[in-house]
Amino acid sequence: MLSYHSYLMVPAGAVRIDVPTPSRAYSVTIGDGTLDGVGRVLDDLGAPERRFIVSSPLVWRLHGPQLARAVTVAEPILVPDGERFKQLATVARIYDALVRFNADRAATLVTFGGGVIGDMAGFAAATYLRGIALVHVPTTLLAQVDSAIGGKVGVNHPLGKNLIGAFYQPHAVIVDPAVLGTLPRREFRAGLYEVIKYGMTSSAALFDRVARERKAIFARTPETLTAIIAESCRIKADVVGADERETGVRRILNFGHTAGHAIEAVTKYRRFRHGEAVAYGMLVAADLAVERGALADRDRQALGGLIASLGPLPPIADLAPAQMIEAMQHDKKTIAGRLHFVLPTTVGATAIVDDVTEKEIRDSLKRVGFKG
Ligand SMILES: NC(=O)c1ccc[n+]([C@@H]2O[C@H](COP(=O)([O-])OP(=O)(O)OC[C@H]3O[C@@H](n4cnc5c(N)ncnc54)[C@H](O)[C@@H]3O)[C@@H](O)[C@H]2O)c1
Ligand SMILES: [Zn+2]
Repeated sequence: MLSYHSYLMVPAGAVRIDVPTPSRAYSVTIGDGTLDGVGRVLDDLGAPERRFIVSSPLVWRLHGPQLARAVTVAEPILVPDGERFKQLATVARIYDALVRFNADRAATLVTFGGGVIGDMAGFAAATYLRGIALVHVPTTLLAQVDSAIGGKVGVNHPLGKNLIGAFYQPHAVIVDPAVLGTLPRREFRAGLYEVIKYGMTSSAALFDRVARERKAIFARTPETLTAIIAESCRIKADVVGADERETGVRRILNFGHTAGHAIEAVTKYRRFRHGEAVAYGMLVAADLAVERGALADRDRQALGGLIASLGPLPPIADLAPAQMIEAMQHDKKTIAGRLHFVLPTTVGATAIVDDVTEKEIRDSLKRVGFKG
């Protein structure tokens, strides 16, 4: 395969971001109408001729015809995409289809869906014949700003989320904000909380932009979406480029995820979208930081105000702090038994600490609105 840089034509108004990881360098192209250029991007990459698309029935019905005009494929491989289908049995269906089509090493797998499709099909691409070319075309806001970049692929185990997986960077990522036009409002908001996360960890400018342009964002104006998606991708690309395997700086992107994952676990992944749980997780981390004197109260209020301005979140008043703390201790991000918290120090910067006590967590959870 040719190197990614010199060959990509970026359509007018589109933005290209390079992701320079040690295992592979690739680009993310973001812009209105980039879906129509997927075939050309694959050609320019020198991507192997045999191209397979993995999608879900819903996404394929909504946007498949447009993609099929841009890329020649025999027939799409359609698998269900709910979180409960994110398991090895579904990946096995992708392998089955690839074997049936006689896919060899010279095959490219294009994922076309939300984070569930990207993670599962990405894992299939990482493992089929020990790895075939992979291109992500994410269709949810969450997948466009987060899961399509950085190379984490995998599936859930019945006893825990994302326990089985690999690091496998894609060869390219193509993001068309126009596909978000059909995304349910709740899914759209869930992705926006991750955008706010990037603002809090790394960019006051992005944080302010979300606050300032909230109306245009909810109207899903392509230029506005391109700008906030591009800024989010740039932040993720920088962090992943510096720390591909999450041994250091990449951990800042777990801001809001310690309590967030616990909320998802104690509600059995049914009540919250991931981003909604992260929104509460960010409030908990901000509260801890204020109590420790690490964050100014006005910054905590700015975060709380922005989250509230996007609309109501599912209730938490029935969730007991003890249950939450227990779930946090089981999280796979615990290192040698110590809980790590990413605490904001201002809008746009964080510090990682590993000495937060159970009492501090319990008190913060109560103040944020968990069972008192
Ligand atoms: N790999 C990573 O680094 C990473 C990062 C964050 C999250 N994730 C994973 O991502 C998953 C969540 O992803 P998600 O939030 O995209 O959920 P999802 O993939 O389940 O998609 C949400 C819903 O939106 C539908 N949908 C997708 N695109 C649509 C469109 N354009 N119009 C209308 N409907 C559409 C899907 O069919 C699905 O019902 C989780 O499994 C999580 O673990 C991975
Ligand atoms: Zn997340």
